[in-house]
Amino acid sequence: MKRHLISAADLTRDDAVLILDTAEEMARVADRPIKKLPTLRGRTVVNLFFEDSTRTRISFEAAAKRLSADVINFSAKGSSVSKGESLKDTALTLEAMGADAVVIRHHASGAPYRLANSGWIDGAVVNAGDGTHEHPTQALLDAFTMRRRLVGPDAGTGHDLAGRRITIVGDVLHSRVARSNVHLLTTLGAEVTLVAPPTLVPVGVETWPCEVSYDLDSVLPKSDAVMMLRVQRERMNAAFFPTEREYARRYGLDGERMARMPEHAVVMHPGPMNRGMEITAEVADSGRCTAVEQVANGVSIRMAVLYLLLGGSEPAVTNNARPEENK
Ligand code: NCD
Repeated sequence: MKRHLISAADLTRDDAVLILDTAEEMARVADRPIKKLPTLRGRTVVNLFFEDSTRTRISFEAAAKRLSADVINFSAKGSSVSKGESLKDTALTLEAMGADAVVIRHHASGAPYRLANSGWIDGAVVNAGDGTHEHPTQALLDAFTMRRRLVGPDAGTGHDLAGRRITIVGDVLHSRVARSNVHLLTTLGAEVTLVAPPTLVPVGVETWPCEVSYDLDSVLPKSDAVMMLRVQRERMNAAFFPTEREYARRYGLDGERMARMPEHAVVMHPGPMNRGMEITAEVADSGRCTAVEQVANGVSIRMAVLYLLLGGSEPAVTNNARPEENK
């Protein structure tokens, strides 16, 4: 695996499967009464958030703490960034603190790449979402969730998503989650179809390794997982669809549409959800929707990523940490 995690497109199949398998071990730790491993004791992880986040920030923090790392949380609001401090000066400050890993979310696509290749810091850089570019750990936790739901928790290690049909629906244009998922899921052997209004399909999508459709109802019966994307109004500088009602009618998932999916198929959403827009409350709260599971799986995936990038000095999960063997 590379030293940084900037893009899902950088991951080979072996890298991706190693992360998923390591996350499976980490998930077992989450079932123990004491959810902590000593693996990253003495290491410092900085969460550098220039953009709002609930799930991703909390989950990276929980992951680092479960591995016993020291965690510094930095959010641009309330810091010297609001006084105009540059990414470079912020990075130099982190370096002075001895950061072993920097988890960065930034509104500018490419900011994590800049940080990783600038020479400003020595630590590993993990992209927690950059502009409309990529969000690799989200794609990993999505793949992990699909693998558990579609292949089964006892499928053992090494399994990928070969031949599974995944449909990603909605605001693809502004979605770093969609970009990262298309790369990762195809690397894992899945077949991906994007469904969106023509105005929300990115220019150049022909070069992406996936199909594009404008007809949700025809794709649903052939899907093993349907990932609904949030309509990202904060990134929209123009009218991309006539009305919210019209959007929901053509591209939203309601109970009636969900009934067209095969029985085993799941509904996914990275959150935050616009209930009533891309997904109805009925679907969001149904047992087929994995949104909450995705959050829990996010901690295991981020533990695996931090562990693998920081090359923990001890095995990820040691036998003597098992509570029953400590008795
Ligand atoms: C996504 C993000 O921030 O890119 N959310 C997340 O990380 N859970 C998707 C979104 O904001 O819609």
